Amino acid sequence: MTTAAPSVSSSLSQPPSEAPTTQGVSTQETIESTPPASVKACKMSQSVLAALRGAETLGPSVYLSNRGNSIRQTQGILQEGYAQYLMDKHHDAKNPYGIINMGTSENKLCYDVLGKRLTKPDMPHFDPSLLQYSDWKGHTFLREEVAKFLTHYCCSPNPLKLIWVSLLYVSNSYGHCVFHVVDAILIPTPFYGVITEDLQLYSDVKLFHVPLDCEVGIQNSRPFHLTEGKLEEGLKRAKQEGLIIRAVILMNPHNPLAEIYTADEMIAFLEFAKRNELHCIVDEVYMLTVFDESVSFNSVLGIDSLPDPQRTHVMWGMSKDFAMAGIRIGTLYTENRDLVEALAQLGAFHGVSGNSQHQVAQLLQDREWISKEFLPENRRRLKAAHSYLTGELQSMGIPYLDRHAALYVWADLRKFLREPSFEEELSLWKGFLRHKVVVSCGQAFCCSTPGWFRIVFADQQHHLQLGQTHRFLMYSRPCCKEPESKLRIKGPTL
Ligand SMILES: Cc1ncc(COP(=O)(O)O)c(C=O)c1O
Repeated sequence: MTTAAPSVSSSLSQPPSEAPTTQGVSTQETIESTPPASVKACKMSQSVLAALRGAETLGPSVYLSNRGNSIRQTQGILQEGYAQYLMDKHHDAKNPYGIINMGTSENKLCYDVLGKRLTKPDMPHFDPSLLQYSDWKGHTFLREEVAKFLTHYCCSPNPLKLIWVSLLYVSNSYGHCVFHVVDAILIPTPFYGVITEDLQLYSDVKLFHVPLDCEVGIQNSRPFHLTEGKLEEGLKRAKQEGLIIRAVILMNPHNPLAEIYTADEMIAFLEFAKRNELHCIVDEVYMLTVFDESVSFNSVLGIDSLPDPQRTHVMWGMSKDFAMAGIRIGTLYTENRDLVEALAQLGAFHGVSGNSQHQVAQLLQDREWISKEFLPENRRRLKAAHSYLTGELQSMGIPYLDRHAALYVWADLRKFLREPSFEEELSLWKGFLRHKVVVSCGQAFCCSTPGWFRIVFADQQHHLQLGQTHRFLMYSRPCCKEPESKLRIKGPTL
């Protein structure tokens, strides 16, 4: 199979999730008789995954509805990798030959710094209100702190108001955010693949892919370059296919590219959305992970006057910036009252515990600790881990996108494929797993070109080292092309 740009992601296209418990569903019919490449790739992935599981493949349950069965049965590549990891987790002392997880976007570098802060006397707290039902949008004390926090760190020209802050149970709540208003959503690929499942679990909203090109061409000044023009083209194609697009999803910094879009680029994207009356969901969950002082991040909440405030919704959460994925707290800032009200109804099913809200409020109000201790140390460690991993990639002649944000590197392993196909990509992924390393392959992010992998570096160096040894050395196999020169790695394409 050669590469082709995917167009519509229907439910058959099941990109894997990186969240351990999220499962994809297949409740709709594919909307094209000849599925695009991404659909084929994912269908194939399912069969390979079935082979991986062997006898453990789940048959349909008589106790469940079709929908229940499809939720239970569908598992993507990353979920599969994570499930294998959970069964054989590496532990330095107890399971030294276990699986190293370089697939899940988690920051494991700062538990000591967090531990010190989270065990301070202001953290354990008793107040009856924390044990009672609360406003499902979140306790006022936390929403107030989030509003102040975002005002400060997003450099908002005016104080952001707590009434527009909604607490989400995790920041991975795209389904919650938009399915009230949306039929189909435009999304540049590759993208954080869990969004597909998130939407499918909660709605029948479709994603319409806008594939970004990994090669630098006339229109691209950098690989996977997103432009307003690309969005316009995507929208046009969607209309030709009879879809009504109502929103666009953007990530800044991006997952999996770690790209940081400039203020001008973001304004252009927002203007595009406004012109076409599209909601714009801006995911900024990695906003404080930029670890190069010479690069600045510009939140859309820092824009003087948002082009279309009623249709601009900004997501942020504790999972990435505060390395606290386990606390399950995300937030949405939107000035759209209707959406806030709809979310408040849903909050009843996804409330966050009062104690967690208290702890997070304490952390967010401690500006001194955040700005003087946590962030500088976190950035220093991320930078060191990034430079270790990219140094190793360079020494192995593996090209990568040289970006300085987030917790991962988007690496080009195409030369390790015997042919440019998603089957080969998956077989490489399986090879890593056999060698006890979980990484994330491009089809998990609906990348239109096979051979790209996301490698998470935010872990202790000796874990990266272990992963490294297992991971790449085995691929110095004869079928692989010679490593490219270092010049190419650092060269203009990446
Ligand atoms: C871009 C992006 N948004 C949202 C999330 C979800 O984060 P949470 O753990 O808060 O659900 C992730 C997690 O990987 C992510 O990468």
